[in-house]
Amino acid sequence: MKNDNRLSDIVGGTPAYTVHRPHQPMVRDVRHGLARSPKQLSPKYFYDERGSELFEEITQLPEYYLTRAERSLLEQRIAEIIAAVRPCSLVELGAGSATKTHIILDEMRSSGCAECYVPIDVSKDFLKATATQLRADYVDVQIMPVVSDITEPFALPPVASPTLVAFLGSTIGNFSREEAIRLLSHIAGEMGPTDRFLLGADLIKDPAIINRAYNDSQGVTAAFNLNVLERLNRELNANFPVSDYEHHAFYSSEHHRVEMHLIARRTHTVTIPEIGEISFEKGESIRTELSYKYDRPILEDILSASGLSIEKWMPADDGSFALALARAEG
Ligand code: AVJ
Repeated sequence: MKNDNRLSDIVGGTPAYTVHRPHQPMVRDVRHGLARSPKQLSPKYFYDERGSELFEEITQLPEYYLTRAERSLLEQRIAEIIAAVRPCSLVELGAGSATKTHIILDEMRSSGCAECYVPIDVSKDFLKATATQLRADYVDVQIMPVVSDITEPFALPPVASPTLVAFLGSTIGNFSREEAIRLLSHIAGEMGPTDRFLLGADLIKDPAIINRAYNDSQGVTAAFNLNVLERLNRELNANFPVSDYEHHAFYSSEHHRVEMHLIARRTHTVTIPEIGEISFEKGESIRTELSYKYDRPILEDILSASGLSIEKWMPADDGSFALALARAEG
């Protein structure tokens, strides 16, 4: 299998002639997204170093129930999951800071097999720090980080089976049904008969609870949202007047999703050297994120369209969040 995206290779050398190359996909995405009507930016661009820090802060907010709900579910259910799957490898999609990884790896180790851990994330800096930390905590586990954008086709390194492929944090919520099916079909295609897929998903609930989670009183979510413009200013030399934008997030019961937007407070023009001039009307919005919420039938529909079937459905007692364990239908 290809492993040309491995962190150890990527951090090793800097090709001399491709100064702009690392930015090209971002420039292309930003150009396309801001040429659309309504304008949009992909949520994957939230996660530069600052954005990843802000997201960590979000996970600790009193209003942001998702991370705590998932962690406590994992703690309750991990023994049962590991006993059923008996995995020797853990592949984690969108690993971020891998804070929930310990729960899984500890249980794997105590039940006798923890050979490889493959964190896959788009944020190279975060992944590097995570790998260093985990190598210290788990000297006997092979840590094989992969820098990859999971929205693009990616290769999994060959690892000892059975493999547990974890996609936690309700990151799936950032994908439309079609995008989710594309990603999950790819995962299903990589899975052998003994491998299992573990999904964490935020559930449909009282809109007031969801709205609070994306409009916290300390303004951390607003800062996280606005940071994407700061990032474009930093990395693409754009000149977004960030203080003239407002965070706007709301839950749509019709679409079962949160929409996050940045709204321009005044008419202005932004210059992005590699793209050109872009004008914004007063009140115009850039959509920066969709965060879908689920119930069991919706997830079953997406999973079965991807060639996966649920073996264990594990909702929280309060119905806030769920874990689903699935296998690939051979
Ligand atoms: C990491 C995509 C699951 O949608 O809740 C948090 C990101 N956005 N607050 C989510 C996020 C605003 C988060 N996911």
